[in-house]
Amino acid sequence: MSVHAQQDENRVTVRSLQAMKQAGEKIACLTAYDASFAQVLDRAGVDIVLVGDSLGMVVQGQETTLPVTVDDMVYHSRAVSSGLSRSLLMVDMPYLSYTSPQQALENAGRFMQQAAAQMVKLEGGAEQAGIVSRLAQNGIPVCAHLGLRPQQVNKLGGYRVQGRDPEAAETMLNEARELEDAGADLVLLECVPQQLAEIITDALDIPVIGIGAGAACDGQILVLYDILGISKGRIPKFSRDFIAEAGNIEAAVKSYIDEVKSGQFPGSEHVFS
Ligand code: KIV
Repeated sequence: MSVHAQQDENRVTVRSLQAMKQAGEKIACLTAYDASFAQVLDRAGVDIVLVGDSLGMVVQGQETTLPVTVDDMVYHSRAVSSGLSRSLLMVDMPYLSYTSPQQALENAGRFMQQAAAQMVKLEGGAEQAGIVSRLAQNGIPVCAHLGLRPQQVNKLGGYRVQGRDPEAAETMLNEARELEDAGADLVLLECVPQQLAEIITDALDIPVIGIGAGAACDGQILVLYDILGISKGRIPKFSRDFIAEAGNIEAAVKSYIDEVKSGQFPGSEHVFS
């Protein structure tokens, strides 16, 4: 057996995520920002750990994700990476770090080389197809984040559900297809009506992960601090405080995973129409 075959036998990869979609096994994802939480998530069986630029809000205490820098992401991703042995490590490209294919490649390259990222996530629709394809050509798996895009908060005029009117829904479906064709390995839908999320999930061959997008998606993601009940302010409608019922961190994470895998979470109270 070669050295390469011996390594990473249990590691979640783009191939295993694809196999999970085909087998109808739900993909359980959570955010993490440091090694200790990453270790808990990995041990509990989380499939994808995202170092989200949500760290700007939940770790740094900022109002939005916009102030987060590439250096911040490298620092936290390195820490998270050291806590993982099975989960796939996905890293967010922060605001203004992918304004051209060359800039995106340089910054995503830092996450791959300096923080052992296995995938990067970027916000955007069809206008990002060139960037997705440049990253894919260089061996960098990409998750395309559609629906509510927090880095666009000032253009959107707030955090609101996207794709409600038929024209916007059609555009989102077409953009998802275009990004898949450009080489994306995953699509993430944030705050999208559940019916639209189901249509997009069925239309794509690659897995679709939802947050506030309903139970029909191939997987779910939440912000860790929301499920542990320690985020500032009100918990979003699409999330749930799992620690309130489970009692401790490990049990809360396990219960989240179990409910995602069994299709119990999200329930009807967590979705938009
Ligand atoms: O930054 C983040 O944590 C995210 C999730 C909300 C999906 O993008």
